[in-house]
Amino acid sequence: MTYARFIGIGSYLPEKVLTNKDLEKVMNTSDEWIRERTGIMRRHIAADNETTSSLGLEAAKRAMSNADIEPEDIDLIIVATTTPDQVFPSTACLIQHQLKIKGCAAFDVQAVCSGFVYALDIANRFLQTGGATTALVIGAETLSRILNWEDRSTAVLFGDGAGCVILKASDEPGILSSHSHADGQYADLLQVRSGISAGYNEAKPAEAFIEMNGNAVFKRAVATFDKIARETVADIDGGLGGIDWFIPHQANMRIIKAAARKLEMPMERVIATVDMHANTSSASIPLALDYALQEGKIKQGDILLLAAFGGGFTWGSTLVKY
Ligand code: UT7
Repeated sequence: MTYARFIGIGSYLPEKVLTNKDLEKVMNTSDEWIRERTGIMRRHIAADNETTSSLGLEAAKRAMSNADIEPEDIDLIIVATTTPDQVFPSTACLIQHQLKIKGCAAFDVQAVCSGFVYALDIANRFLQTGGATTALVIGAETLSRILNWEDRSTAVLFGDGAGCVILKASDEPGILSSHSHADGQYADLLQVRSGISAGYNEAKPAEAFIEMNGNAVFKRAVATFDKIARETVADIDGGLGGIDWFIPHQANMRIIKAAARKLEMPMERVIATVDMHANTSSASIPLALDYALQEGKIKQGDILLLAAFGGGFTWGSTLVKY
């Protein structure tokens, strides 16, 4: 059997940091409210000359150096993003060109905060069926570009960043299972209404930015982790107790704690970076993964569960032997 193994990980955060105290100066909010309701303390914001592709490129270069591979080794590039540089070409094609890679498939995946686990699921299927041997899977976002800085209920929650995992086909176990799901009936709980085909309503400029029914998303997110837990139990010998590290999408510390309870995971085995990065959508899981590796938490052979939920409504998971 062919598996997709993680052979290199890298991430990149823009230099500019915005703390809750900084936000207090520009909107009617408080460090105390943000910390109590979300666990967030600060977030990174892309500079004017940075884009999703420039963040993703930097994360990819770091992952490639970490994996000790050359651009010519790569034969698949998937970028998960909700904030592509342009309508087209895809962010993946822009990064491919910057890396001087030619000919391989390169495309974007749009599944909002579940984008990275969707992208891993797709790459896993390419590798398992012999369609590729070495894949760059990137999650990259400049969410600050779709934030309404006059809406305190969303502006305080998000940040920018990028992370990249390199997958290589191997006989040794890597990804053990991966799942992608969606239920479009909840589309209006979390959305940016404006778009290319739907157009931009000049009378309602706020529609060009993230709108969210926070309470409803919160409840759906917790219920979704219940489904993910039940699906994962079927994939792993020894049940949920066989998981060494839970690396969830980083949206809100209260959601992460509720998810950990559903998965019967003690918080010591949960990776949480939402305090430092806020919600970086499809970049949040690879950023958290890289952080955990740099902290020396994850060891070779550990079983990791990556799990996400997001706008759409979408959700998914990846169970992997590192
Ligand atoms: O990747 C998926 C994306 N999204 C999420 O995962 C978010 C899911 N939802 C949440 O995390 C939470 O629902 C929030 C953090 C967004 C909100 O927390 P909450 O406990 O559900 O608060 P709430 O929406 O019920 O609002 C409570 C109060 C309201 O005031 P009133 O009406 O009670 O007077 C809000 O106006 O908090 C107010 N509020 C704020 N106050 C200070 C909302 N945003 C802020 C703010 N600062 N930034």
